[in-house]
Amino acid sequence: MAKITYVESNGTRHTIEVPVGTSVMQGAVNHLVPGIEGDCGGLCACGTCHVYIPEPFQSLTGKAEELEQGMLEFAFDVREQSRLSCQIIVTSVMEGLVVEMPKRQY
Ligand code: FES
Repeated sequence: MAKITYVESNGTRHTIEVPVGTSVMQGAVNHLVPGIEGDCGGLCACGTCHVYIPEPFQSLTGKAEELEQGMLEFAFDVREQSRLSCQIIVTSVMEGLVVEMPKRQY
């Protein structure tokens, strides 16, 4: 398990224990965290799991690969810190990870 904090665009925080090996998107969806939809079920085909990774955590989550970058082009308010949370698989070193959600998906 790794404790992950999901921060809504209005600042509301949700801290959840997410099993190692689960995606950051699935952790949110399983706990009905508002702001991450995950419409394609994690296939990197919808862009509705868009999150921002604050700078201190980027070394833990790594960078988006080419397929993910392509899908991110369709997301709302994409920034340098943008990732698709279905492409981030939780590991034990991600304990304390914080992800922030955009105002909306799309
Ligand atoms: S859940 Fe569809 S791209 Fe992440």
